[in-house]
Amino acid sequence: MKNLLKLMTAASTASLLMLSCAGTKSDKPVYLDENQPIEARIEDALSRMTLEEKVKILHAQSKFSSAGVPRLGIPELWTTDGPHGIRPEVFWDKWKQAGWTNDSCVAFPALTCLAATWNEEMSALYGKSIGEEARFREKDVLLGPGVNIYRTPLNGRNFEYMGEDPFLASVMVVPYIQEVQKNGVAVCVKHYALNNQESLRHEYDAVVDDRTLNEIYLPAFKAAVQKGGAWSIMGSYNLYKGQHVCHNSYLLNDVLKGDWGFDGAVISDWGGCHDTDEAISNGLDLEFGTWTDGLTMGATNGYDAYHLANPYLERLRDGRASEDVLNEKARRVLRLIFRTAMRTDKPFGSLCSPEHYAAARQIGGEGIVLLKNEAGVLPISGDAKKILVVGENAVKMMTVGGGSSSLKVQREVSPLDGIRAAAGEGVEVMYERGYVGDISGKYNGVVTGQDLSESRSAAELIADACAKAAEADVVIFVGGLNKSSHQDCEDSDRFSLELPYNQDAVISALAAVNPSLAVVIVSGNAVAMPWVDDVNAIVEAWYGGSEAGNALADVLFGKVNPSGKLPFTFPARLEDNGAHALGAYDPHSTVAKYSEGIFVGYRWAQKQGIKPLFAFGHGLSYTDFLYSDAVLDKNTMGGNGKINVTAKVTNVGAVSGKEVVQLYISDEECSVERPVMELKGFKKVALEPGESKDVTFAIEPEMLKFYDAEKGEWTLEKGRFTVCIGSSSEDIRCKASFDYEEDR
Ligand code: BGC
Repeated sequence: MKNLLKLMTAASTASLLMLSCAGTKSDKPVYLDENQPIEARIEDALSRMTLEEKVKILHAQSKFSSAGVPRLGIPELWTTDGPHGIRPEVFWDKWKQAGWTNDSCVAFPALTCLAATWNEEMSALYGKSIGEEARFREKDVLLGPGVNIYRTPLNGRNFEYMGEDPFLASVMVVPYIQEVQKNGVAVCVKHYALNNQESLRHEYDAVVDDRTLNEIYLPAFKAAVQKGGAWSIMGSYNLYKGQHVCHNSYLLNDVLKGDWGFDGAVISDWGGCHDTDEAISNGLDLEFGTWTDGLTMGATNGYDAYHLANPYLERLRDGRASEDVLNEKARRVLRLIFRTAMRTDKPFGSLCSPEHYAAARQIGGEGIVLLKNEAGVLPISGDAKKILVVGENAVKMMTVGGGSSSLKVQREVSPLDGIRAAAGEGVEVMYERGYVGDISGKYNGVVTGQDLSESRSAAELIADACAKAAEADVVIFVGGLNKSSHQDCEDSDRFSLELPYNQDAVISALAAVNPSLAVVIVSGNAVAMPWVDDVNAIVEAWYGGSEAGNALADVLFGKVNPSGKLPFTFPARLEDNGAHALGAYDPHSTVAKYSEGIFVGYRWAQKQGIKPLFAFGHGLSYTDFLYSDAVLDKNTMGGNGKINVTAKVTNVGAVSGKEVVQLYISDEECSVERPVMELKGFKKVALEPGESKDVTFAIEPEMLKFYDAEKGEWTLEKGRFTVCIGSSSEDIRCKASFDYEEDR
């Protein structure tokens, strides 16, 4: 029977191969004929490849590329970081930049900023723009976006991700993927999965229960695959259940390829593959960055020593490895090549275009979050004739550093330059350093060339800043973190929640001298603010990329009315975060116990009744929004039925603005503990002064479920649910309840 089936499949494949789509004959071999279905082309290519050629396409041939099949005209694959711009070219077998002069790019805002826009249109614009840059640079795979959940504010890589909430990240990741891939460039969604810290990232084993895995850490990856249609995914460095994730049978074979039906290629994080037999059996398709000595150390070809290179060939030749598994891997890599490098109908892309700068500025402006604004400090009034800017981050380039996301930009507008340009003539803009942070500015051979050396003492710096602050109409302090180790940077975590480099003292001193002080934090992480009550205006500006200074100035001067909302909680103290409260984050341990379970971010704060410094979803505007009552179109729900809930939102201020209307749902009675409420919807609405809009959310049964770990499935229990609509997770403006009538 099995043989008969095989014969039938072979026969149907053969007839498929002989005919072109419309039944007409083509002279081209099927795999080269773009009118043929991609699966037929893959099978045809595979049938022509030798064992050696199949193995050859499964591992790197240089730092960022893998081989094609030159004999058949199947091209190489070129990957690039990601995720905020296109990384400069490096040497064939070195991390160092190669010194090309045509590989400068536009840096887009960091993904935390994109998430903070809470606007899918911004995600689409981001994906389109970066996809075009990748395409122009002839890259086939963009290593990003990243959707690891923000578990601790100490994670050095949070700036590359989309915040603490699985729903927000799941929605925001999809348009980015779709728009990048329209360019014939694959995304490589990273880092799948449970890479929520950088400390001991190659060694720690994430111990997490099934419910937490499914409710918190997997949804954004699932959305990236099933809704975004991602063509590749990157296995993370850490372990899960004692097995490295790059060859983790459960996460790759069972969940990703099995349950989710992922048809793309699993790419190892660079150096994330450690075991040939596991790599063969457990779902890895393409191996990159394994730490062999490589060409630089004189090995004939270091890449042949990769786990999925000669060691794999030996096992195939002596029968320890099966050709079926090999074919399956080769098929996936071919599919990736056919979707990208082999496509001839893709657009040409563009680099450093005015449109890309405009996109970076727009996304940056929409992501900036106004955390606090009292005494009319912001927007800066037209009467302000003397503005003092203080702080290293007002001048320091932030696109260089941070690890693999480091870029070589064509230009980067600093906050000081942006403020100067926006202030215009007749306004004096003074600058004072205030503190000395990290004056280095290098990554893999890219140097900022900035001289940030400083000879004054900390006390002198504060005194000089305060002297000028006393005579200024407005003071803008621009500080925060930077892209150096143990700040916002790959391969290390932060040591504490505090602002580094004596900044708290500078801010407090400035606040004592001039009440018209706005503190701007440039970071990808929450920071402690012991001076919060003494400062009238606080802004989270993120890493804004090439247009950082212009986007910030747009908001400070009111050209753009801020509409960003926090994609993660700012805890007042580190102990107010679940992982830290339970001592479950230990940078020195090779076991990461996710003891806080599903209670990540606002879920923990609300469960414990802790008031955060600034809540998830918080963000002010220069106008005010009034919410009406929430109106349900039904009070009961059953089966697959839906309920619509509507709230009217009115702009009651004097300027036009945008509000992110957020929908949270509470399960009032359940056999398992559930979060106080969970984000299940959001809509960004633009409103002119006096204008009202009805905002309607459709509530579906899927949104009410929890993951039942015992049954291993998503479950809905009957009972009362409350919908909470508001301006942040801590600012709910209206509520309504309904009953779900049956267990499902
Ligand atoms: C990082 C990845 C990156 C890769 C290639 C790794 O160290 O974890 O995010 O894409 O290097 O640069």
